[in-house]
Amino acid sequence: MARLPIIAGNWKMYKSLDETRDFINGLILHLKNTRCEVYLAVPFTLLDKAYLEARASKIAVGAQNMHDELEGAFTGEISARMLKELHAVFVILGHSERRNLFLESDAFINRKVKRAIATNLQAILCIGEKQNERDEGRTEEVLTQQLDESLKEITKEDLKNIVLAYEPVWAIGTGKTATPEIAEETHKFCRSYAAERWGDEAAEGLRILYGGSVKPDNIAALMSKPNIDGALVGGASLKVESFAKLIHFDSP
Ligand code: PGA
Repeated sequence: MARLPIIAGNWKMYKSLDETRDFINGLILHLKNTRCEVYLAVPFTLLDKAYLEARASKIAVGAQNMHDELEGAFTGEISARMLKELHAVFVILGHSERRNLFLESDAFINRKVKRAIATNLQAILCIGEKQNERDEGRTEEVLTQQLDESLKEITKEDLKNIVLAYEPVWAIGTGKTATPEIAEETHKFCRSYAAERWGDEAAEGLRILYGGSVKPDNIAALMSKPNIDGALVGGASLKVESFAKLIHFDSP
């Protein structure tokens, strides 16, 4: 079964309402002949605007985080139900910036993943090792722990609504991309993990995106690898020109 690639932009804490309108209208002109799904993960404040601008196109709009409870006394938080109301179709969970800057634990991320699925939001679960963990030869150990804990109690059926994003922390926003070989080796490891836990068929269907300094000049080599099913892109998703090149990774 061929997996349809996903090229997902993660805008992080960037862009105004006007910039969102201009970006999406610009991007729409480049959607023809794309052989991938095109996702934009925008700040909460831009969800409504992005949805309205993108709704006649194939662009899927989603969020970058959420809380696991549906409502309650959680000052400053946003629930899955609120995201659905704004037409979000997916949510990024466990991004390394959430893990490292906001101290999110795998247990918290696990509750969010379960909530996203129960609310019919596709979850893009991010995992990845830090530089010292890779240097110490602990990459697989770290990823196994993140997968075990953040996907605790996830069934084979649930997995259909999950996309994995392997994002080595040392490659995010640093300009230091993992080589296609390193990325492929790690993606292959994640797919074998999935096969062991949920069976070959579920693992074959699981899309695993690579993230960390993906740019127009390195995407083709990454995407040529059999276990890399797309990209989660920060910096290069902020300009129409570069993001348009990424969604056409397969055109020379
Ligand atoms: P980057 O960010 O492309 O700017 O490295 C990727 C990410 O954080 O998802």
